[in-house]
Amino acid sequence: MSAVIELATTQTGAFSSAAPEGYRTISVTPESPRLGAVIGDIDLTRPVSADQEAELKRALTEYQVIFFRDQRISHEDHLRLASIWGEPGLHVGGKTNSKVTDDPRVRIFHADENSKQVSGDVWHTDQSCAPIPPMGSILYIHTVPPHGGGDTLFASMYAAYEGLSERMKRYLEGLTACHDAYDVFGPGTPKADHPVIARHPESGRKLIYVNRGFTKRINEVPEEESRGVLEFLYDHCSLPEFTMRFRWEPHSIAFWDNRCVHHHATFDYWPNVRSGFRIQIDGTEPPRPA
Ligand code: SIN
Repeated sequence: MSAVIELATTQTGAFSSAAPEGYRTISVTPESPRLGAVIGDIDLTRPVSADQEAELKRALTEYQVIFFRDQRISHEDHLRLASIWGEPGLHVGGKTNSKVTDDPRVRIFHADENSKQVSGDVWHTDQSCAPIPPMGSILYIHTVPPHGGGDTLFASMYAAYEGLSERMKRYLEGLTACHDAYDVFGPGTPKADHPVIARHPESGRKLIYVNRGFTKRINEVPEEESRGVLEFLYDHCSLPEFTMRFRWEPHSIAFWDNRCVHHHATFDYWPNVRSGFRIQIDGTEPPRPA
């Protein structure tokens, strides 16, 4: 085992997700030691109670990505769920793979025999090129490939940060990086500088805030050094011990906190159909420096 992996394994052991204690109005079943929980005892086709809203918010903060099974939601239900956290927002990209429905806040995530690529098949944070990136995204998949495939991978940027050596943490703190999605989303797409190490506004935990999809350069160091450090961080952030894999079933939902989680769509099911809808929730502030 390499020194890097040994270090990460040892250091991250202490940072497993908490046991789901104290939830009264929903059930919470952790999916991995680092992130992810399935939420049960809830019907998202109806307005949920204030107590359930509070526990859902708590679960997202604790588990970073939450899942629901067997929820046949309409666009209205989907928007109502998103609105518990904030304003459903619009994609900042000029051109995108996903297309809008009649309501531009609800995007179609559909792949079939005519698809050459899909959205998000690289580790990324949604639209980190925006000065204020989306707070989270809620993906509802109603149709899954018949023989599996199309899983979404998630990685905890808290666990990735906690798995860095103390020397590396000190080196990275205070640096900023440029996030630019021009080559993915084309003209009209914003770009922004964000801290390399950020602090989550609700949990107060530190996290790595660079991603392979959109981060182009660490601003304060020479180009060569930036390239090497970013490659190290991208490899580090996707180490298996910081990640989990969500296997979709028809009418499942994944809701990730875009401020502390990377995700990666797996396009291994062509020419079969995978289909659903995604809503993103506006952020309220730029990533905070740690
Ligand atoms: C994305 O939002 O990046 C796509 C995720 C997926 O389709 O699994």
